[in-house]
Amino acid sequence: MTPRKDDHDCVAQQVRAARHLIVFTGAGVSAESGIPTFRDTSGLWERFPPEEFACWNGLVKTALFHPARFVEFLLAVLEPIAVAAPNPAHCAIAELQHRCRTTVITQNVDGLHQEAGSKSVREVHGTFLQVADGKGRVARNLTRDDLRHVVEQLHRVHDGSMPLLRLPGALKGLVNLLRPMERPRVVLFGEAMAEPDWTFAQDDARDCDLMLVVGTAGLVYPAAALPRWAKQAGAEIVVVDPVEPFAADQWLEGRAGDVLPRLVDHLR
Ligand code: APR
Repeated sequence: MTPRKDDHDCVAQQVRAARHLIVFTGAGVSAESGIPTFRDTSGLWERFPPEEFACWNGLVKTALFHPARFVEFLLAVLEPIAVAAPNPAHCAIAELQHRCRTTVITQNVDGLHQEAGSKSVREVHGTFLQVADGKGRVARNLTRDDLRHVVEQLHRVHDGSMPLLRLPGALKGLVNLLRPMERPRVVLFGEAMAEPDWTFAQDDARDCDLMLVVGTAGLVYPAAALPRWAKQAGAEIVVVDPVEPFAADQWLEGRAGDVLPRLVDHLR
């Protein structure tokens, strides 16, 4: 079914009337904060094949046999997140929570929704602002400053001023890379979703009456099933993306940083 296009008034009316609004976001909402998406041109997976870099076994093999490439990948992922700030899309989403009951469900691991002021955020793929122990439990929270420190140490390895073997020592207190090993609390391909957020997100999707789907290609399951579950439960699906969506009731074409502040203006 072809989605109705660019009817900002109609969507604003639906937000005003919403009993429970879900804003489901992907990498596109953080693109304007300088964080690359995954599958767009010059996206992360265009530069780093996911079979080598998006699953645990691939990462371990790359770290052992191609350490320089491994450090290059960590820098490509972490540095944009370490220096990022919320953009107008994150701020507009935070403002929606003052208009109606709003829950944010994000696939992103950058912590920018919370930094913009969103209170109810489900991080279904985890976050780089937390470290997990060997059992996947939260070992500690990190700040963006901590991530900047990690990036500085990675640059020292990358430019050869510090041997890779000294990295664990340089990151002591932030993430323990030696036994008992810790790791960033992010979900890789083939791993279980982050709990309890994933369980909450499924309930939220089946409870909402309006879902804004912002900046996701909708290709990675199980998160990509959330709009369908919401639709089956009777919700209206509105997509915000520069690219026309596969399935939606409405499409607001454009970049999130332009479309969402405009939608909030319509609410005023
Ligand atoms: N505003 C809105 N949407 C945008 C913008 C923007 N400024 N820039 C790009 N987009 C859209 C693209 O058109 C595309 O639909 O964002 C989407 C990005 O898609 P992906 O790169 O596939 O990212 P995402 O859908 O979030 O990936 C899902 O895949 O790699 C895994 O775990 C990773 O969480 C990630 C999951």
